[in-house]
Amino acid sequence: MDLNGKTAVVTGSARGIGFAMAELFASKGATAVISDIPGPGIEEAVKKIEEKGGKAIGIPCDVSKEDQVESLMQKIVDETGRLDVAVLNAGILRDGLLVKVDRKTQKVTSKMTLAQWQAIIDVNLTGVFLTGREAAVQMVNCGNGGVIIPISSIARHGNAGQTNYSAAKAAVAALAVIWSKELARYKIRSAAIAPGFIATPMVLQDMNPAALEKFKKMIPIGRMGEPEEIAHTAGYIVENDMITGITIDVSGGIRI
Ligand SMILES: NC(=O)c1ccc[n+]([C@@H]2O[C@H](COP(=O)([O-])OP(=O)(O)OC[C@H]3O[C@@H](n4cnc5c(N)ncnc54)[C@H](O)[C@@H]3O)[C@@H](O)[C@H]2O)c1
Repeated sequence: MDLNGKTAVVTGSARGIGFAMAELFASKGATAVISDIPGPGIEEAVKKIEEKGGKAIGIPCDVSKEDQVESLMQKIVDETGRLDVAVLNAGILRDGLLVKVDRKTQKVTSKMTLAQWQAIIDVNLTGVFLTGREAAVQMVNCGNGGVIIPISSIARHGNAGQTNYSAAKAAVAALAVIWSKELARYKIRSAAIAPGFIATPMVLQDMNPAALEKFKKMIPIGRMGEPEEIAHTAGYIVENDMITGITIDVSGGIRI
């Protein structure tokens, strides 16, 4: 698909990887839809893209809320006349061990709470389901085909300390396969991206610093990735009409 003249929405795109993808799509001539939970970051992101000569609009949306997601995807078509690309990127971390054990007593002192589990499922899995479903509704009804890109993670293989996150990201990779099969007849492709450690606020601010240092040493290329390197892969998926039904690891070679 040639992005010029198309409409591309990226959830969670006020910053981080999402913003880099929106910026890349706009640089290739698409109208980028910046969507995120309400806050000044949305308008700031729109402004940054416009300053570089790109087209962007901002629409707030909490991806875990069905009514907001339905209205987001409808508004995009109402305002731009189409929907061609949807990147399901919004995500959060709530890391913790399944059970935490005191070294001396060997007794459990705390456990991953249901709230910790549910918060991740609501945003990282239900949010991807809802945004993928509503993007598909609009893409099918518009009749131009499309590309749906869920953002998974290398943690989908099962990362200690991430029971909630790894489970959600494994499910997200499965959604890309399912949707590639169900939606191909409508000329809609779906492929996921599984980033490794990327230098964004999620990792630099929200991750346990000791855990991050440990993981950094395990990256064969010797550095974390940049958001633009994930955006590059999103561009590749959109532009290559053979790509569907897979998850592409962009990780500098790290395996968890
Ligand atoms: N950074 C990494 O190393 C890394 C690795 C693997 C996967 N990922 C995935 O990439 C995606 C982007 O991560 P990032 O590193 O750019 O994170 P980030 O925290 O910098 O950005 C995430 C964005 O999602 C938004 N968001 C959170 N909850 C939302 C909700 N309910 N509705 C709408 N928007 C919401 C946030 O406001 C934020 O702008 C996430 O799905 C993350 O799990 C990141």
